[in-house]
Amino acid sequence: MKALITAGGRATRLRPITHTLNKHLIPLANKPMIFYAIQNISDIGISDIGISVNPGEEEVQKICGDGSKWGVRLTYIEQKGGPLGIAHVVNNARDFLGNEPFIFYLGDNIILSGLQRFVDAFEMNDLNCVLALSRVSDPQRFGVPEIRDGRIIRVDEKPSQPKSEYAVTGIYVYDSSFFEAFGHIHPSARGEYEISDVHTWLIANGYRVGYEEITGWWKDTGKPEDLLHGNDLLLDGLSGQVFENGVRIDAGAIIEGVAVVGQGSHIGSGTILKGPVSIGKNCSMKNAVIGPYVSLSDHVTIDGAQIERSIVMEGTRISIPEEICDSIFGRNVTAHPSESAPPGKRRYLLGDNAVVHL
Ligand code: G1P
Repeated sequence: MKALITAGGRATRLRPITHTLNKHLIPLANKPMIFYAIQNISDIGISDIGISVNPGEEEVQKICGDGSKWGVRLTYIEQKGGPLGIAHVVNNARDFLGNEPFIFYLGDNIILSGLQRFVDAFEMNDLNCVLALSRVSDPQRFGVPEIRDGRIIRVDEKPSQPKSEYAVTGIYVYDSSFFEAFGHIHPSARGEYEISDVHTWLIANGYRVGYEEITGWWKDTGKPEDLLHGNDLLLDGLSGQVFENGVRIDAGAIIEGVAVVGQGSHIGSGTILKGPVSIGKNCSMKNAVIGPYVSLSDHVTIDGAQIERSIVMEGTRISIPEEICDSIFGRNVTAHPSESAPPGKRRYLLGDNAVVHL
């Protein structure tokens, strides 16, 4: 079996972060989001993984490499023909996928349970397709199955009147009947080849489409709040204290709960780390309260701030005496006290589509 992971798209709802960073590289619990997809796939012994990227993409390749980090082989497949929907993404990878069954994994989906169940259901029940379903409060945002007598009878994409309380998540198993179905569907009103139309076509044409409910946690990280939620859940999964080589902890620093601290980081005096927190390499902090549910990427400096439930990316420096929560800082952001603003006034230099909640 092979696997295909999506790492393209525009991620407009995550701007400004995604103006300069591919959404799939946003760190959650300090690892690029796509690493969790690769890990989940390699955990079930699949070693041939395609990653679909936007034309001209370079950073995903640079960060994920050839896959040897996970003992897998990664093949990058540029999406041709423009953004024509996720069914089109699969069809675009047809040469790579060949005629073998495959897992299709939307790289912005985070699941806490493994993938083996879906593959077992596919193989043991002799299915052409397995859909991973999750019960949600807002099914109209997703592909929604209509289920009768324990079988899916059709799937509607983002229906205004959902026929069940399930979302079809972004984890799928298919055989090559996918490509036959793709040959019969047409772009939807939003101009996309909808994966839901593939599913409805398969069912209507006698192919066997089964499903498994995701019992653990599932999240499609489309919005900033989803990223924070994903970060929370992944930090909850940290298994124990880790202090890598060269970590310095000053007298007077306090560590409560589970903390992972990367090589060369300095927990200075007056700092309280409240787990779960994940701190990258060569970070520096003093007189700060960090956590719970905070991820700091490498080379982050925090001085004097209190930060809870936030994601702070590489190279960012925060030295304002503020209490910060539910925030996402991109790379190389500087938040420091102003020397030139009159007392009581603030100065900003914010890029396009920045968001400030005061
Ligand atoms: C896509 C699919 C949808 C599915 C969802 C899961 O939606 O079209 O059927 O439920 O992924 O994440 P999109 O995220 O492109 O809006």
